[in-house]
Amino acid sequence: HRILCIVGARPNFMKIAPIMAAFAALGDKVQATLLHTGQHYDVAMNHQYFEALGIPSPDINLEIGSGSHAVQTAAVMHHFEPALDAADASAVLVVGDVNSTLACALVATKKGVPVIHVEAGLRSYDRAMPEEINRILTDQISDILFTTEAGALDNLTREGIDASRVRFVGNVMIDTLRLNLPRAIKLPQILEANDRSGFDHAGGYAVLTLHRPSNVDDPEVLQKLLQTVRTISDTLPVVFPLHPRTRGMIEKFGLSGLIDIPQILQLPPMGYLEMLGLMQDARVVLTDSGGIQEETTALGVPCITLRNNTERPITVDQGTNTIAGQDPEKILEIFRDVMAHGGKAGRVPEFWDGHAADRIAQELCVWLDQRRNAT
Ligand code: UD1
Repeated sequence: HRILCIVGARPNFMKIAPIMAAFAALGDKVQATLLHTGQHYDVAMNHQYFEALGIPSPDINLEIGSGSHAVQTAAVMHHFEPALDAADASAVLVVGDVNSTLACALVATKKGVPVIHVEAGLRSYDRAMPEEINRILTDQISDILFTTEAGALDNLTREGIDASRVRFVGNVMIDTLRLNLPRAIKLPQILEANDRSGFDHAGGYAVLTLHRPSNVDDPEVLQKLLQTVRTISDTLPVVFPLHPRTRGMIEKFGLSGLIDIPQILQLPPMGYLEMLGLMQDARVVLTDSGGIQEETTALGVPCITLRNNTERPITVDQGTNTIAGQDPEKILEIFRDVMAHGGKAGRVPEFWDGHAADRIAQELCVWLDQRRNAT
């Protein structure tokens, strides 16, 4: 079987790594080709991840780059079509919920090529989030849907998707986390590499990541959040790797002064192993990322989510995650609880066990065999 695997943006890379490895382990049964749309292209957002995670270099790179949602999605579709024609694929496999995920799924399904969606069925029920639109539409047009948490099936059933298309296999991102934990790069080494060895973290530290348009594109919201982070940093120093979108907005709105203080360490976007090491030793992580909510749950580190909702409810029900929204008082209240009582305890959800990609590869082979035999 020839499977064309798609990546586009940073959160896709740690998901595809174990899937490519699981396909490779099947030998001649599967020929997996990797296509990168080029949605993310900076060294820090892109190449670092391929190197650190041992992902094979993409066989094809569409070099799409940045743009508005319409421009970016259309460019991926336009350039993906001939690549798909040339690939003669038995199936296209997409991961996550970025614009590249939807764009490639849409092209493939209209050409009659089956679409496999990994990390299906997650819903925030917030359609103002671009990723929510990508999730809903990709799931609708996927032939096989692999889910990370059992509740995803209810979301999919509600949208009319037949349960026979859905397979609960667990979380490939946690495969990557478990495999790489022994190689995680810790704060002292990061400080040295960034010439910031003077950063005082003797009493522990918090990690902050922010990049959602709903948090960083509105000057008032961003100012309020950064002010709250500044208050937190009076108690616990904050390590803050900056997404390019966030750095751009902070500069545009003239908010740099709020965070240019010794107890807030601003860093460039971190590589995978650095981010892992930072999270592992943090007393608390504050984030608006989806993946980090899951990674902190797997690591047992308290997570404060700076959003009003999550598409990953299991991280709240079973894991260490608390939804705080954008309200400074709420954020500070949860933060104080973490400092006083160590935060919320949690457990690791079912099938977040390091073997999700193996289950995907096995299930997919069975399905493709059946499909071939039926035609
Ligand atoms: C995208 C995904 C989001 C994911 C995030 C992780 C969509 C709709 N959004 O958001 O789900 O959580 O990636 O990072 O697909 N930029 C660079 N260098 C790069 C890439 C981007 O400087 O390598 C800058 C550009 O100014 C660009 C901006 O970041 O305009 C936004 O990039 P884009 O790919 O549109 O979306 P993200 O905000 O990164």
